[in-house]
Amino acid sequence: MRITNGLILLRLVALAVAQGSGTYSVKTPPLTTNWTFEVGTNPWPEYPRPQMQRSQWQNLNGIWRYENATSLNATSDPPFSQTLENEVLVPSCLESGLSGIMGSYALYSWFSTSFTVPSSWSGNQILLNFGAVDYEATVYVNGQQAGFNRGGYYQFTVDVTNATKFDEANELLVFVHDPTDSGDYVIPIGKQTLRPSHIFYTPCSGIWQSVWVEPAPANYITALDVNANMDGQVNVTVHSSSGAASPVSVTIYESGGEKAIATTNGTSDSPFQFTVSSTSLWSPDSPTLYNMSISFGSDTVRSYTGFRTISKGEVNGVVRPLLNGEPLFMFGTLDQGFWPDGIYTPPSREAMVYDLDVLKSLGFNMLRKHIKVENDLFYQACDQMGLLLIQDMPALRPLQGDQYLPNADQQAEFTRQLELLVNQHKSYPSIVTWVIYNEGWGQLIDGYPEFGLTDLVNSLDGTRLIDSTTGWFDHGAGDFSDNHHYANPQCGSPFYSIQSSPYDPARIGIQGEFGGIGQNVSIEHLWNNQAAINTINQTYEIDETIDAWNYRGHKLLTELKEQTEIYACSGGVWTQTTDVEGEVNGLLTYDRRVLRTNITQWKDDIQALYDALKSRSSNSTSTMRML
Ligand SMILES: *[C@@H]1O[C@H](CO)[C@@H](O)[C@H](O)[C@H]1NC(C)=O
Ligand SMILES: *[C@@H]1O[C@H](CO)[C@@H](O)[C@H](O)[C@H]1NC(C)=O
Ligand SMILES: *[C@@H]1O[C@H](CO)[C@@H](O)[C@H](O)[C@H]1NC(C)=O
Ligand SMILES: *[C@@H]1O[C@H](CO)[C@@H](O)[C@H](O)[C@H]1NC(C)=O
Ligand SMILES: *[C@@H]1O[C@H](CO)[C@@H](O)[C@H](O)[C@H]1NC(C)=O
Ligand SMILES: *[C@@H]1O[C@H](CO)[C@@H](O)[C@H](O)[C@H]1NC(C)=O
Ligand SMILES: *[C@@H]1O[C@H](CO)[C@@H](O)[C@H](O)[C@H]1NC(C)=O
Ligand SMILES: *[C@@H]1O[C@H](CO)[C@@H](O)[C@H](O)[C@H]1NC(C)=O
Ligand SMILES: *[C@@H]1O[C@H](CO)[C@@H](O)[C@H](O)[C@H]1NC(C)=O
Ligand SMILES: *[C@@H]1O[C@H](CO)[C@@H](O)[C@H](O)[C@H]1NC(C)=O
Ligand SMILES: *[C@@H]1O[C@H](CO)[C@@H](O)[C@H](O)[C@H]1NC(C)=O
Repeated sequence: MRITNGLILLRLVALAVAQGSGTYSVKTPPLTTNWTFEVGTNPWPEYPRPQMQRSQWQNLNGIWRYENATSLNATSDPPFSQTLENEVLVPSCLESGLSGIMGSYALYSWFSTSFTVPSSWSGNQILLNFGAVDYEATVYVNGQQAGFNRGGYYQFTVDVTNATKFDEANELLVFVHDPTDSGDYVIPIGKQTLRPSHIFYTPCSGIWQSVWVEPAPANYITALDVNANMDGQVNVTVHSSSGAASPVSVTIYESGGEKAIATTNGTSDSPFQFTVSSTSLWSPDSPTLYNMSISFGSDTVRSYTGFRTISKGEVNGVVRPLLNGEPLFMFGTLDQGFWPDGIYTPPSREAMVYDLDVLKSLGFNMLRKHIKVENDLFYQACDQMGLLLIQDMPALRPLQGDQYLPNADQQAEFTRQLELLVNQHKSYPSIVTWVIYNEGWGQLIDGYPEFGLTDLVNSLDGTRLIDSTTGWFDHGAGDFSDNHHYANPQCGSPFYSIQSSPYDPARIGIQGEFGGIGQNVSIEHLWNNQAAINTINQTYEIDETIDAWNYRGHKLLTELKEQTEIYACSGGVWTQTTDVEGEVNGLLTYDRRVLRTNITQWKDDIQALYDALKSRSSNSTSTMRML
């Protein structure tokens, strides 16, 4: 090095010392999006729970501190009143560039911040809410353990009233344990793995959804179940912290306005019904929603609903899904919800909605949220935009040889989390179907547990269809006969392949996955990680040009249309919305900067699917039998 560079070097060293090594900045990930450097330090400012909004709240998202830990033993001596090593962005995955850490093997971690609540909140319960923490969180406030939660995809609330001081800083410390697929852990993880390869991706660890604090009266609303159907009937359950039946009042407002159109009185902690006349129905073409407010003692929350009914019926001899009593073809993408800069956490609401806008503008009426659960604003966006959702349960790790099927305890935990999935999401109008198992992952064959789980889901939510097993091991449970096949579909057809079952005419024929055709792109749109790049040629099919890719897309959608015209196909799931890491088969590249689709062609081909089902379902001698 020449002597003149010495000064520059000294200056750089001085700068590094002044900033401190743990100071937050975005780490540049292997691929960025347009939003990566726009996130800033106040991410996700929106109220995080649109179906149960309280007016007073404080967002705790932003810069926290973080330190890696070495084992579960760390909780025997929590680092109270200490400055943890690094700054970190909350919410984020520790593995993401946006976290500022971009770490790996984040199995054990400490997070800390402080919050101040105003004395005007005193006399209330102080509720600390987490959108989701992957996988286990132990929460401490001012040196006291205040709560524990297990499950990487679910909301939880910790009542921190007794530990909280007003008008002064409260120390919040969270220990996170996220085993993912280390050792012989068998837990719901979806596509996350510590050893990413092709269709298995970088994991997410830590506080990956919003954190906020709010006051509530002594007896407060803990959850709200709302279902509104095509006959204007609303079924509400208001769950309260005391669990004791108390009076509650529900008001529904005109759509897009402030005028009350129905008010009813009921009782908390058990379902009650009332009817609203002349409501507009919710559907993908006309996603009308209605605001609600719920008063319970001195607690008031705002919510919303949409009026629609999901059912099934035999139409001209074929079992079809029905929306508001009409048969419809459900056509969507396999939607993984991964981001190159945020992994599980979209960089912002705008970025998240961008994907949905692209799908909607191509004419998709559905998406299959694939073995992941999103934040509540995602479901609200689907409700607002009119996108049907097939919601998967996050899968256990796939079978490798004969290892990693769940033991009895692991199966019980899977079941508990399946209940959480349904109970926490059953008020979104957009969700039309629950999926229990994907392609046999973690699916025990002894005794076929999908039958019992299907009954369980149906008992928690009898208003939707259930796709018990999407792909592979179908023993007859649930409402769908669901084939997976790449690249071409085999939907409700008298031909099928190894791993699938013959079409069962007693259930709805659907192509739960097909397509998956790939098209390699230049390095600036690829997840720039050599191991991932090396797996690109594991894609089911690579098309050398975008024209060839569109040509193949047209052929495959035409096959699906013919299977709708000739056989008994009622829906399909195209793999997939975006590229993810070493998988280059998206409509969009992973950075969302290239849309591969010829828009006119895809819109026409997708419309042809809807038309094919419609013409099969209605003619002068049509018959329909509700099932
Ligand atoms: C955790 O603590 C137990 C009991 O003190 C000890 O046996 C074990 O070795 C510790 N584990 C680690 C990883 O430090
Ligand atoms: C945490 O520590 C483990 C070793 O204990 C290491 O393998 C891992 O890379 C570290 N992770 C992060 C995010 O610092
Ligand atoms: C707070 O303290 C009161 C009185 O000791 C106790 O009854 C209550 O259960 C505590 N609340 C919580 C959430 O721990
Ligand atoms: C209302 O919803 C509850 C579950 O939340 C269900 O058990 C009950 O059967 C429903 N009642 C009607 C009339 O739909
Ligand atoms: C619900 O209320 C919010 C806030 O007042 C308003 O912005 C929104 O348009 C309303 N939505 C509907 C569907 O009425
Ligand atoms: C609901 O109850 C409140 C007070 O408990 C009463 O003023 C109101 O008239 C009731 N509304 C209806 C629709 O019954
Ligand atoms: C019209 O409906 C009848 C009775 O359901 C059915 O048998 C026939 O195949 C239908 N025709 C067409 C063209 O779909
Ligand atoms: C895909 O493209 C990248 C760079 O653009 C290249 O390194 C890689 O070899 C290509 N892979 C295949 C299977 O074409
Ligand atoms: C796939 O790519 C890898 C690395 O780029 C190469 O070694 C391998 O031969 C390729 N396989 C096929 C089937 O093309
Ligand atoms: C990203 O930014 C470029 C340059 O401003 C713009 O042309 C493109 O439309 C943007 N893409 C997305 C997905 O916002
Ligand atoms: C897109 O597809 C349409 C046919 O659907 C075709 O007419 C048009 O030329 C295609 N556009 C491009 C850019 O290939």
